[in-house]
Amino acid sequence: MSKKINIPSLDLKREYAFLKKGINRQIKDCLGSQQWILGTQVKELESKVSKYLKAKYTIGVASGTDALLLSLRSLAIQIKNKEYFNGDDEIITTPFTFVATAEAIVRSGAKPVFVDINPKSFNINPENIKRAINKNTVGIIPVHLFGRSSEMNEISQIAKENNLFILEDVAQAFGAGFNGKKLGTIGNCGAFSFFPSKTLGSYGDAGLIATNDEQLASIAKILRVHGQTAQYNAKYIGYNSRLDSMQAAILLAKFKYVDKFNGLRQKVARKYHNGLKDIKGIQLPNSYGHIYNLYTIKTKADTRDKMLKFLNDAGIGARIYYPFGLNKMEAFRTAKISGNLDNADKAAKSVLSLPINPFLKDKEIDYIIEKIRVFSKERAGSAI
Ligand SMILES: Cc1ncc(COP(=O)(O)O)c(C=O)c1O
Repeated sequence: MSKKINIPSLDLKREYAFLKKGINRQIKDCLGSQQWILGTQVKELESKVSKYLKAKYTIGVASGTDALLLSLRSLAIQIKNKEYFNGDDEIITTPFTFVATAEAIVRSGAKPVFVDINPKSFNINPENIKRAINKNTVGIIPVHLFGRSSEMNEISQIAKENNLFILEDVAQAFGAGFNGKKLGTIGNCGAFSFFPSKTLGSYGDAGLIATNDEQLASIAKILRVHGQTAQYNAKYIGYNSRLDSMQAAILLAKFKYVDKFNGLRQKVARKYHNGLKDIKGIQLPNSYGHIYNLYTIKTKADTRDKMLKFLNDAGIGARIYYPFGLNKMEAFRTAKISGNLDNADKAAKSVLSLPINPFLKDKEIDYIIEKIRVFSKERAGSAI
């Protein structure tokens, strides 16, 4: 049996050691420029990300949550010619996501409609979207959960046939693609988060909206500066939601490594896959283009918490993303539920995310695999 190794769920220290020179230089330049509000660093980042995503417009904002909210407000202004959606306007999304997805829907004035997920991908099931559409439906928010693309061909087709917008929640999937396009550029717009744990993470809060729609981009740009179209003259009720220059500087230093780091995440995932694939009762994530912001396995509901404790006791920072579907939260008690949410409810009880980052060492991955194998063996042979 190997000696105990402590492996946190998120460890950014190694990444900083690797990037230190570039990050420190960017911070120094930022201090030198003293352009704190939408300064050169923000413009440079927006322009580099635009090129990378092949999105005509990118708008740096204060967080991924704001990227969702400002996108929705911009869509309401564009589509309905109203500042906010009204309570009858329905936006279809998944209940198996971070709170911010549906929070933004409510704050934009609309009603979230939760539909069930595909139990293999944990992403929204397009068949359920179809069933939830009615005359009040205005749009769909697919979330590319854990770094894996939603089924964008089907979702795009449904949106087209029913004249609905698509806002992609790309918070967990910066750099991932689908059919030759980067995620976040397939729908009307994409909302990215640069929260520190994401595949491109800042050292605080930051986010970005990407779109190819000029009108949408110009509304979002107005909303991020208090709704002002000219200095001290507001057209809309807006936000103070600018991407911070210092965060942009840090992101510039990290940005050039995003593909390399995502490739390293995929390498870790392959190693996990090879080490765990023969264990019965565990579902592994595995799909083309997945960039593994999180490596999330599914166990049996009655063993998940025991496995979590076993791994945590062994020093492994396994975690649950997410222990409750949004449909179970008091905040969303007035949201609408279409059909049953059995797969989402089951996922909340049986998922377990293993530590993953580009700098995870082979011996650490081997240790995690070993501990899962030991746990599985102790539990009725291998059928956990
Ligand atoms: C799926 C999803 N949507 C939205 C967000 C919100 O992003 P942020 O934390 O940058 O506001 C997050 C990040 O935590 C997320 O995981």
